[in-house]
Amino acid sequence: MTKSNIGLIGLGTMGAMLALNIAEKGFGISVFNRTTATMKSFFDNAGELAAKITPCETLEALITTIEKPRAIILMVPAGAAVDEQIAALRLLLDADDMIIDAGNANFNDTNRRASEAAAAGVPFLGIGVSGGEEGARHGPSIMGGGPEDSWNRVAHILTAISAKYDGSPCATWMGAGGAGHFVKTVHNGIEYADMQMIAEAYGVMRDGMGMDAAQCAETFARWNKGPLQSYLTEISAEVSAATDPKTGQAMLDVILDRAGQKGTGRWTAIEAQHLAAPIPVIEAAVTARNLSAQLTTRAEGEALFGAAPSPLATGALSLNDLEQALIAGKILCYTQGFALLSAANPVFGWSLPLPEVARVWREGCIIRSSMLNDMASALSDAPDRNLMFAPFFTGLLKSSHSALRHSVSTGMRHGLPMPALAAALSYFDIMRTARSTANMIQAQRDFFGAHSFERFDASGAHHGPWGGH
Ligand code: 6PG
Repeated sequence: MTKSNIGLIGLGTMGAMLALNIAEKGFGISVFNRTTATMKSFFDNAGELAAKITPCETLEALITTIEKPRAIILMVPAGAAVDEQIAALRLLLDADDMIIDAGNANFNDTNRRASEAAAAGVPFLGIGVSGGEEGARHGPSIMGGGPEDSWNRVAHILTAISAKYDGSPCATWMGAGGAGHFVKTVHNGIEYADMQMIAEAYGVMRDGMGMDAAQCAETFARWNKGPLQSYLTEISAEVSAATDPKTGQAMLDVILDRAGQKGTGRWTAIEAQHLAAPIPVIEAAVTARNLSAQLTTRAEGEALFGAAPSPLATGALSLNDLEQALIAGKILCYTQGFALLSAANPVFGWSLPLPEVARVWREGCIIRSSMLNDMASALSDAPDRNLMFAPFFTGLLKSSHSALRHSVSTGMRHGLPMPALAAALSYFDIMRTARSTANMIQAQRDFFGAHSFERFDASGAHHGPWGGH
């Protein structure tokens, strides 16, 4: 019997789609799922791809059907389940067999697992996979982490199943240990921010301009033909246009305004704080999701203080301004995301290839957009430069920041919450203010804690004349 090229454990939605994708690209794949019925039904529904799939009812069977040295992908829920699965597999595997965690792991866990694997002398990869169900099935964006030679062993499979941008695969090795999962985490932080800024623009249209869902759909569809072209703009048009089969109302109008989350956006914010890397737009988006969950408290607030949003006067803000505001917000958000990736390098000993990150995000993943191609070019010219200082994006910001200010100030005057876009605006203003107000902070610190400060006119550490207070 011919052995499979690779194995996969965990046939949940993402695992099943990934397995079909691998089979479709011509690789033999052995699959195992803890619940055998799930595995059987997966196999029964695999159609002609079943010829490339070997269903296995036990881990032992899985292992004996894969060619050596083996590679096995784990698609089990992030957390303890991954550790348990690794421990169970390691009892059965040879030393040169590789385990690949392709779930949405916390990169700190991946770093730990990578160190444990290195200490045991066994190969381990942690790969971030983005693109949802559709991406997993037909071409996700793949961000790899672990030993480079281990990546090279399976790169032919991972690039074959990945999305392609102009023929080039959206799958790259990012660095050692948890580098791939870290890049995926930052991807998700940006995903939260992109989604939040779109939701804020929707709020201005709905509550400020009185537009209905169909009109929002037309606007998003139009924006999707310009610089905002992206998967998230596209699906915002689609969800705005959809009708609820049950009530005939716009689908958006029957969906409860409480956003869920599995936590990857939060990880981005937590890690940015650890690294002291400023990502205010992403943090604002994470906070906005958390606030959205406080449904009853918000209703209480509205009853006490009255509803915040009030309609904008005709002509107070144009849809063109709002589009420009989103363009500026997006550039500033990605600037922060890439800066966070750079900040991680010295701490974790990585050299995350920023232009490559932008390239693998151009297709397959949730944040894919035409702007990422321009970001890839800008970062190739100078990977360590703050993205907003790359000539192309400086130009775009110069033509859009006034609209961002006008949109945020108009929205705020009318009680329209715009936390992410407002954070983008403040970041922009801070980043073009050579003289900040932190001299006040330094004076305060020195006053209450004798922490000292630097002076413009002399080097070294100084104290103010407030001794003995
Ligand atoms: C992707 C998505 C994917 C997933 C997240 C959503 O890149 O394919 O980011 O990983 O949709 O789980 O995260 P929340 O549940 O936190 O919104």
